[in-house]
Amino acid sequence: MANDTLLIKHTGTGKQAEYPLLTGTLGAETADIRSLYKDLDCFTYDPGFMATASCKSKITYIDGDKGVLLYRGYPIEQLAESCEFTEVAYLLMNGELPSEAQLLDFNLEISDRAIIHESLRKFFDGFHYDAHPMAMLVGVVGSLSAFYHSELNIKDPDQRMRSATRMIGKMPTIAAASFRHSVGRPFVYPRMDLSYCENFLNMMFSRSSQNYIDQDHYIDPDLVKALNLLFILHADHEQNASTSTVRLAGSTGANPYACVAAGIAALWGPAHGGANEAVLNMLAEIGSVENVPKYIAKAKDHNDPFRLMGFGHRVYKNFDPRATIIRKTCHEVLSKTHKNDALFELALAVEQAALKDDYFIEKKLYPNVDFYSGIIYKALNIPVDMFTVMFAIARTAGWVSHWLEMMEDPSTPIGRPRQLYVGPPRRDFLPLGNR
Ligand code: SDX
Repeated sequence: MANDTLLIKHTGTGKQAEYPLLTGTLGAETADIRSLYKDLDCFTYDPGFMATASCKSKITYIDGDKGVLLYRGYPIEQLAESCEFTEVAYLLMNGELPSEAQLLDFNLEISDRAIIHESLRKFFDGFHYDAHPMAMLVGVVGSLSAFYHSELNIKDPDQRMRSATRMIGKMPTIAAASFRHSVGRPFVYPRMDLSYCENFLNMMFSRSSQNYIDQDHYIDPDLVKALNLLFILHADHEQNASTSTVRLAGSTGANPYACVAAGIAALWGPAHGGANEAVLNMLAEIGSVENVPKYIAKAKDHNDPFRLMGFGHRVYKNFDPRATIIRKTCHEVLSKTHKNDALFELALAVEQAALKDDYFIEKKLYPNVDFYSGIIYKALNIPVDMFTVMFAIARTAGWVSHWLEMMEDPSTPIGRPRQLYVGPPRRDFLPLGNR
């Protein structure tokens, strides 16, 4: 209720204090314990932030038990069904769906900002051909601030919005450039006459540095539709590890390009955005349906470091609504591309074996967004080491939206967690001869 509080009593000292319970539009009540240390001289301990709200946000809401995902209140299923990715990016950034005129202007601005500075393009020449695309993405995005230092006044809302839109526009160009560099093909410039997803596929796969849409190499609209869907599903997800990294970096006043580069670095980990690449590597390791029982047993064995990549989620404990949508699209894409769907059959076998297994049922481990996305990316001829880059392109919309939301609130404090110190007590220095 409006005035409910959380009463915390220290049974040792007998001191107690009441903390207001904040209620949001949806979701759990949140105890405002900011004065806890002052009142009761103690901290809370919550590694991984399992039960800790780091901020208030209006952008995305997840109900992990019901498998609900809302972007600015709209169910992900409805947006995935009807929108183009840039429409969803606009929604996340501005809080409302764009009108036709607003979307036209936004798409024009995104296309206009897709080009990168020729000097930035030369950065790629410094990487070895076999550099991981995520390594290139982190480096190049972090360097963008060197090209826009006249636009880094983070107190100016117009400059903030321009920086955010600039990154959404340039991410596909930088991503495609990292791929072209790794395969030794000429860089392909973005085009004003292509949609966001068409442009990306053209920059990735054009047979020359000019034009991919020639007589026998057109961009299949069904594949563009599948990519658009994947980008929408990956656009945002509350305070996940990479978004929290962007917010923490942003709380220091760092420029938005540095903040997003920090988010890209955090996303790279196999427990987070790197899971889609890890799923494909895991399926390759399992190799055949006959080996599935052996690997399910390995995943359950705590002495074995093997985990079922693409399974489990910190928040979703029944199903990841994104995985449900992607699984359906898998069938469509594989039938369209006539790709060898042995991989999909193997993924289905792993999924079915895990969903029937008591260990996974008891621990509420279900397929997450990453379990099937890699199979679609593979069917789109996206190389495995580009999968997390794909995630980063989409999540840039979420990262910049959270950065904008945080920067709009001048009361945002610098993030600075406390700790429980378990190191040695104070001791005096011993010179070398006396140790
Ligand atoms: C993403 O936060 C987000 O929203 C992320 C994301 C987004 O859109 O931003 O949704 C994207 O990162 C999806 C998750 C991708 N990662 C993976 O698929 C990697 C495999 N999954 C696990 O690493 C794990 O499930 C996490 C990291 C996703 C969640 O970890 P938690 O919530 O910290 O759970 P946990 O590691 O404490 O595991 C709880 C139990 C453990 O067993 P016990 O110690 O209790 O006996 O479940 C087991 C774990 O061993 N477990 C698994 C498992 N995941 C958890 N066992 C086998 N295989 C797994 N995948």
